Amino acid sequence: MPENQRKLLVTSALPYANGPIHIGHLVEYLQTDIWVRFQRSVGNKCTYVCASDAHGTPVMLRARDEGIEPEKIVERYREEHQRDFAAFHIGFDNYHSTHSDENRELVEDIYAKLVENDLVETRTIKQAFDEEAGMFLPDRFLRGTCPVCGAEDQYGDNCESCGATYSTSELKDRKSILSDTTPVERDSEHLFFRLGQFTDILQEWTHSGTLDDAISKKLDEWFDAGLQDWDISRDAPYFGFRIPGTEDKYFYVWLDAPVGYLASFLNLCERRDDLDFDEYFAADSTAELYHFIGKDIVYFHTLFWPAVLEGAGYRKPTKVFAHGFLTVNGQKMSKSRGTFVSAANWLDHLDPECLRYYYAGKLSPGIEDIDLNLDDFIAKSNSDLVGKLVNIASRCAGFIVRGYEGKLDAKLERPELYTRFVDSGEKIATHYERREYSRAMRLIMQLADQANQYIDERKPWVLAKDDATAAEVQAVCTQGLNLFRILMIYLTPVLPAMAEKAAVFLNADVSDWHSRSDALLGTQINKFEPLMTRVDPASVEKMIETSKAPEGGDQNDDGYISIDDFLKIDMRVAKVMSAETVEGADKLLRVTLDDGDGERSVLAGIKSAYAPDDLVGRFVVVVANLKPRKMKFGTSEGMILAAGDNDKDIFLLSPDDGATAGMRVR
Ligand code: 2FM
Ligand code: ZN
Repeated sequence: MPENQRKLLVTSALPYANGPIHIGHLVEYLQTDIWVRFQRSVGNKCTYVCASDAHGTPVMLRARDEGIEPEKIVERYREEHQRDFAAFHIGFDNYHSTHSDENRELVEDIYAKLVENDLVETRTIKQAFDEEAGMFLPDRFLRGTCPVCGAEDQYGDNCESCGATYSTSELKDRKSILSDTTPVERDSEHLFFRLGQFTDILQEWTHSGTLDDAISKKLDEWFDAGLQDWDISRDAPYFGFRIPGTEDKYFYVWLDAPVGYLASFLNLCERRDDLDFDEYFAADSTAELYHFIGKDIVYFHTLFWPAVLEGAGYRKPTKVFAHGFLTVNGQKMSKSRGTFVSAANWLDHLDPECLRYYYAGKLSPGIEDIDLNLDDFIAKSNSDLVGKLVNIASRCAGFIVRGYEGKLDAKLERPELYTRFVDSGEKIATHYERREYSRAMRLIMQLADQANQYIDERKPWVLAKDDATAAEVQAVCTQGLNLFRILMIYLTPVLPAMAEKAAVFLNADVSDWHSRSDALLGTQINKFEPLMTRVDPASVEKMIETSKAPEGGDQNDDGYISIDDFLKIDMRVAKVMSAETVEGADKLLRVTLDDGDGERSVLAGIKSAYAPDDLVGRFVVVVANLKPRKMKFGTSEGMILAAGDNDKDIFLLSPDDGATAGMRVR
């Protein structure tokens, strides 16, 4: 092992295993992967782990909708995510799952230590209870107004607008997303982690260079407001790990998710003799731990997480790097505009490395959002990568292969130019280390311009035609290819696949940053194969078109559903056979319908406008393929369609005369 070799463990946020990876997610994974590859290239021992974030309400809901076990959903997405990440050359050392034995053991152990250290307190809290659905509402089942910034329509546990987290009882104007009713408060015993006790430690930690300025300022606001103890338990039903010693309490997903970083690393250590879990996680570890995250999950990673680690006797992260969100063509990603592009769709149409390069050209260490402008993307890929970079190699390689049997000259024609390229490596390395990728890319492209200028001046294609100058061609092309090799060394973190191809053609390694000072002289190169092709604007257009009608278009960000989604809804005419009031329910009637295929029982919130007797014999429109829903007052097997602005004026959609039960509505 080289002396002074740093040992780094790097993570990206664990993606939820309930939906596809898209180009917004990729900002983070590419930012991390570039950093990891850079660290390896300069000789550090850098391990990169990730995992599926398996637990929580969304996965549970999804499983419930699809009528399968949540584990199945997690596995499906874990495989899909791994495939997409690999195709974008994101080189995790391990990709695990938070729903794993290692994670369960670690979470239980951490919890036991927190309890032992008197850091967990049981409190009876009032919790939102949906009387219509008959269950306690997990955070994500509630929407309301953020108690901190006043943004409307926010989740029950954290605000997407200001990033604050809070307990569901603090959320204002709460509504259950299951029934759209206002939940009532009921008592429930919950477990709280005493976050407040860590205020001093956290203040010191956050001000010791662990965070960028903007984030640390944000944290100061949270410190000023006072740190609230953190509810780490959730009531059943919940997909997660049951809390030892309880019957129906589960660890909140945000407790076990970051532990997933440790679990993934532990799982890797089980297979790798050169990695020792304790060496990386003991309280006095000298290994470095870095988390790359989005700016929306700063609270979890810079307050809860270091406090939990500290409380359980582990080391804290060395640094937490937060990035901004992605916009496309200056706007939020949108399914209707086709800019909500999945990783798989990108791969069907475009080269993943062009995206790597484009993001690198935009990324800085800050939390500003980055914009993918598609016209700019096409122009930059074609001018920088194909027009500047690949062009250097393609203009020089042929002469060497054809004229000199692939042999490079024994000396450099312009050693000072070569040295200038080598020396620039220091600055470029500093930019990579600081995640100033856009600066690094700018410097690298300036060097590419200089290499092209040199070739333009020396014009090997002209020299070759004149016997008096033909002998200079080998020297010029040797110089050109050596400059190209240095550029490839600098770009290996960003363009790993192109770098591999370049290494084959140059017959020389390009993955070791330090090897750049050793010029390739008198060595043999191989036949040049095209390293990259131009981006065709038509491919970008096709990709956007394809994104407009994606699978799962029903989880839209902007209110649109696709025609395919609409066609999934089986709406039929049904005849009301009987109707009755439901004991204890203010708004519901139990209606028995004949939908042509038989009878079904539907609970409909129309009591305020219709007496049961008025309904018998009427035809109504019903959604026949709605999954039966268990509610407090029984199961509802479908939904009767009605229109109305308030409780009093509810109008059933009435088919015209002549309709019969079972007719399809279209
Ligand atoms: O916000 C998210 O997408 C979470 N799944 C990130 C979890 S990161 C870590 F804590 F596990
Ligand atoms: Zn807010």
